[in-house]
Amino acid sequence: MTSDRGVWITLEGGDGSGKTTQADLLAEWLTGTGRTVVRTREPGGSEVGQLIRDIVLHHRGDIAPRAEALLYAADRAHHVSTVVRPALARGEVVLQDRYLDSSVAYQGAGRVLDAAEIRNLSLWAAEGALPDLTILLDLDQDEARKRLDSADKPFDRLEAEKSEFHSRVREAFLALAADEPDRFLVLDAAASPERIADSIRTRVRSLLD
Ligand code: TYD
Repeated sequence: MTSDRGVWITLEGGDGSGKTTQADLLAEWLTGTGRTVVRTREPGGSEVGQLIRDIVLHHRGDIAPRAEALLYAADRAHHVSTVVRPALARGEVVLQDRYLDSSVAYQGAGRVLDAAEIRNLSLWAAEGALPDLTILLDLDQDEARKRLDSADKPFDRLEAEKSEFHSRVREAFLALAADEPDRFLVLDAAASPERIADSIRTRVRSLLD
């Protein structure tokens, strides 16, 4: 989004990889440097998105894979248009939990839909918008499952998928990062939160200068 004045950062990774912790730490640091930070997420970063989030995460029973992909894309279209673009136009930092890479990983690799079609669907929905930086918190499957189990909250529809699903998701994220090394920062999510936060700050600092 080079034509806008703001900076757009997305966080990606499997469930349980620590995205929320890192988003909290980064937001605190950015605010301390005098930046206005908009914390947001997909699905559910807008009012319409909240309704869609409820369907995709909590609907009891199956949702056809293509319908699921379209629901995430609909959430994205509305979110980018009503939340992300206006904030970037105001010169703010948008710090977002998940974006189109999640669709390519979960609906593409996870649900076994065509990755290029899923990416193009998202790009159409968002009128081609891509973040300045995408932080991928990569976590080994066993560790991710352990963290989710110990979180002691009920699994949503995606978290409840079997481990092969989550392995495919992880591999897809890593492949996406390898395809776009300039946009991605890949970090080992098993490292200490402070160490991860430090690596993130180093990269973000170079973006802001
Ligand atoms: P998230 O908000 O990270 O879940 P939680 O609040 O439980 O941490 O993400 C919700 C789920 O939606 C997550 O399992 C990944 C999935 N997802 C997709 O399958 N496709 C997408 O395009 C997005 C944005 C998320």
